[in-house]
Amino acid sequence: MTSIAVEINGREIRRDVPARMHLADFVREEGRQTGTHLGCEHGVCGACTVLVDGQPVRSCITFAVACDGAQVTTVEGYDADPVMALLRPAFSRHHALQCGYCTPGMLATARDIVLRFPQADEQKVRLELSGNLCRCTGYVGIVAAIRDVLAQTSGDAHPQIAALREATRAIRGAAVIPIAKAAFTPFEAADTGNAAAPADSPAPAAEPAAETGATANGTRITGNFTVPYPADQVWQFMADLPAVAACLPGAELTEHSDNRVKGRVAIKFGPMSASFNGAARLERDEAARSAVLKGAGQDTLSQSRANGDVAYRLVELSPASTRVDVDLLYALQGPLAQFSRSGLVKDFVGRLIQEFGKNVARRMDPARAPGAQLPPARLNAMSLGWSVLWSRIRRLFGRAD
Ligand code: FES
Ligand code: FES
Repeated sequence: MTSIAVEINGREIRRDVPARMHLADFVREEGRQTGTHLGCEHGVCGACTVLVDGQPVRSCITFAVACDGAQVTTVEGYDADPVMALLRPAFSRHHALQCGYCTPGMLATARDIVLRFPQADEQKVRLELSGNLCRCTGYVGIVAAIRDVLAQTSGDAHPQIAALREATRAIRGAAVIPIAKAAFTPFEAADTGNAAAPADSPAPAAEPAAETGATANGTRITGNFTVPYPADQVWQFMADLPAVAACLPGAELTEHSDNRVKGRVAIKFGPMSASFNGAARLERDEAARSAVLKGAGQDTLSQSRANGDVAYRLVELSPASTRVDVDLLYALQGPLAQFSRSGLVKDFVGRLIQEFGKNVARRMDPARAPGAQLPPARLNAMSLGWSVLWSRIRRLFGRAD
């Protein structure tokens, strides 16, 4: 056994420890700071990353005895840190965590990126972050959150962080990168009665107001359909918002004016079921025969939010045939975000575009009795879901769709 003293989040912990005890166990078992997570336990996943003298290290492959006399900061110790005060709300805004298991390590690495690489572009952020694995959220939101903080702290926008960067540069290669100390808040195990947090704990640093309407991460899906009618006629039809909505499976209008609509879109696909209520505005470019529908909505059940643009452009193939190119760019935030990037969902939306095209052709059919009402398109989740899966299976075995 070796006697060591390690300062964890501002409190000195003295213990006799086995020479092979790693820092993560020391922090969790002796320091009672259980926010440090262990994933792989051999230095690969980055979940256990903590700051030792301000530098990120993997606590699963760092011996506790090697940290004798060092300052260790874990996720519980960031309250007074100005970088973390920006990273925390940015992670929430960009849905940069789901189960949160990787998040303590991600935050430690993110702080290091913000301080050492103020000019980092997306590629650099991804490179620096490549030692931290996230098994469920994916990296789009995490990268967007870090870039958001980099944008907020560019130049002299944030004097405290500019000073920290300066100090980091000045002591590069030296032992200590400064981090503001927060009060030590120990985990209180039910059976030990550990001391509570000091009465003079400082209040957490104030969080900046969330940005509104900003979305750096979106998913783009493109598709097209062809209808056997002249472009002028199709363009005229596409200006009729109630008629257009009736062609979109699962969509229902509740209000509309010339170029604004309110309504809901129901989605059901496998485990995903949602009903987004929202509003949208149509902007048309008559000369180019193109338009964009900008909308946003919320699923009340899952509290997921969606916003996006549906852009379309008419291409005259012949005097009696028009192709409609559709470009959908959307972002999902909240629990449903996990579905937004899957290939299956992209296929699903592709099929929706095809269904929409067929319904447009049906509604424009001159053989339809004048004034005859067609029911709004319904979402047949079973047949749509099956057709998507079937096309995937065919692709898997090398057969054309
Ligand atoms: S638990 Fe330390 S790197 Fe995975
Ligand atoms: S949020 Fe679950 S592992 Fe990253």
